[in-house]
Amino acid sequence: MRPPQGSRDPLAGILLRRAVVGDAKAIALLIDRADARYFGLVPPLLASAERLARWGRLVREPSWWAFVATEPGRLAGVVSGTAAVTEDGRREAGVTHLDSLAVEPERWGLGLGRRLLVTALAAMPALGWRGAELWTQEPNARARALYHSTGWRQTGARRWHPVAGCHILEYTITLPPPGPQPGAPPGAPPAAPSGP
Ligand SMILES: CC(C)(COP(=O)(O)OP(=O)(O)OC[C@H]1O[C@@H](n2cnc3c(N)ncnc32)[C@H](O)[C@@H]1OP(=O)(O)O)[C@@H](O)C(=O)NCCC(=O)NCCS
Repeated sequence: MRPPQGSRDPLAGILLRRAVVGDAKAIALLIDRADARYFGLVPPLLASAERLARWGRLVREPSWWAFVATEPGRLAGVVSGTAAVTEDGRREAGVTHLDSLAVEPERWGLGLGRRLLVTALAAMPALGWRGAELWTQEPNARARALYHSTGWRQTGARRWHPVAGCHILEYTITLPPPGPQPGAPPGAPPAAPSGP
């Protein structure tokens, strides 16, 4: 939903940047708040202490990338991923698994989720990713609308998730090859991959 014309930008003052290891705790707490609101109907996926520990590990993985939206005093959103791993534990070359997209509940519906996702998708090729995958809850209409409208496609894979108490669906996206870096002369080679 876009704000009415002439009204103040509801996202004014929110800035997006690459996340750093020191953001781990704030990211975990933000995801707790977003999930608590979403999972009002079902139990939270992870206890806070578990989530803090998980994020402490995740941000140290070499393939980890994330963008955060910041506002004074707290994070307002995050999108994050690592290298995708197949069911038998093999790493999928060049494919990132988007493990989290979350927005501060007070900011839902203002376009911040879209802004984070579009920023991440635009950055992924230069980070070395040629594709991405994710799983989301079947009843999560807001997230699914966002994935559909930003170019993700359902693969048809669907699994029961006992903790979430619902089915989860797989989405993938193919990314364009990396373009030249801003300021690079026409025809200059793309940046060297840094992610996968
Ligand atoms: C999913 C989430 C990140 C979306 O963030 P958001 O800032 O509210 O998203 P946006 O405002 O950018 O809305 C994106 C789209 O959602 C859709 N949408 C918004 N409200 C909706 C609603 N109540 N029902 C269904 N779709 C809705 C719209 O199509 C919107 O697109 P638009 O820009 O064309 O209007 C946020 O709701 C969240 O943190 N949820 C909890 C965590 C979660 O579920 N993460 C995804 C799990 S994979």
